[in-house]
Amino acid sequence: MDRKEFFSALGYSSGVMMIAGCLGACKKSAVTYDTPASTVDFTLDINQGLNIALKNPGGYVYSNNVIVAKTTSGDIIAVAQFCPHQGTSVQYQGDRNRFYCPNHGQLFTNTGAFIEGPTNKPLKQYTVVVTGDLVHVTG
Ligand code: FES
Repeated sequence: MDRKEFFSALGYSSGVMMIAGCLGACKKSAVTYDTPASTVDFTLDINQGLNIALKNPGGYVYSNNVIVAKTTSGDIIAVAQFCPHQGTSVQYQGDRNRFYCPNHGQLFTNTGAFIEGPTNKPLKQYTVVVTGDLVHVTG
């Protein structure tokens, strides 16, 4: 194979690979993730382990498929951990007072309501009761 044939073959195969890759990655997914149907009932002690994140405004932890966060005004809130689009763990953005999915950028309010993004589904909101250093999450 001479140089011209080599680059010709390389260009052809690269183009085929790019098209094949885009066809796989660019197609819309038929898979969606609904909010969990199961109920939760658990308690976090904010003095233990990763839960200490809840001492700081904007801090959050994941537990039992729920994201529990502390708002900048000091409230503890909880919604479903997984984005209803493709199941990525959402994050809490305390400075913007919202939940955010880093995968495709879907946004949710503090209560889990849909703001914008690839699917209009919300995150399930859970009930939070704080007693001293204990955070009880149900729903
Ligand atoms: S997984 Fe696509 S926006 Fe969350």
